[in-house]
Amino acid sequence: MKKVDFFTPIVLVLLVYDVEAKVFTKCGLTKELLNNGFERSYVGNWVCMIESESAKNTSKVTERADRSKSLGLFQINDKVWCKWGAAGGKCQVKCETFLDEDIKDDSKCAKKVQKDLGFRAWEGWMRSCYRRTLPFPNC
Ligand SMILES: *[C@@H]1O[C@H](CO)[C@@H](O)[C@H](O)[C@H]1NC(C)=O
Repeated sequence: MKKVDFFTPIVLVLLVYDVEAKVFTKCGLTKELLNNGFERSYVGNWVCMIESESAKNTSKVTERADRSKSLGLFQINDKVWCKWGAAGGKCQVKCETFLDEDIKDDSKCAKKVQKDLGFRAWEGWMRSCYRRTLPFPNC
């Protein structure tokens, strides 16, 4: 029994964080954003922000200083926007859905974050994209 207790958490972590991970190419991401209804004129900003925040990795998890986590492609914070294990937060969604390779829920929530707070909500956008000319990616 001791053996099982020791290994089970490791297996669970691998299941949560490793399965269905996907890293987009720049053009793959551009296409995916258009498919999810992002406005063409802002796609340059979204791609820049995503490159800076998650390196286009759909399963990226960043632990913040306040012990909250930023999740997935758009690095949406679990303290405010979602809830673990059940739909909740301002986006009324399970946090787990931000870590799979389907970006439908992520996109919907990211648009809400952007509408409520602007691109300034993302440190990576402030750092790498603010005050830059960001044309539609050349794909
Ligand atoms: C994507 O992120 C996950 C979780 O942080 C990590 O395990 C994986 O190695 C990353 N993939 C790449 C290609 O960087």
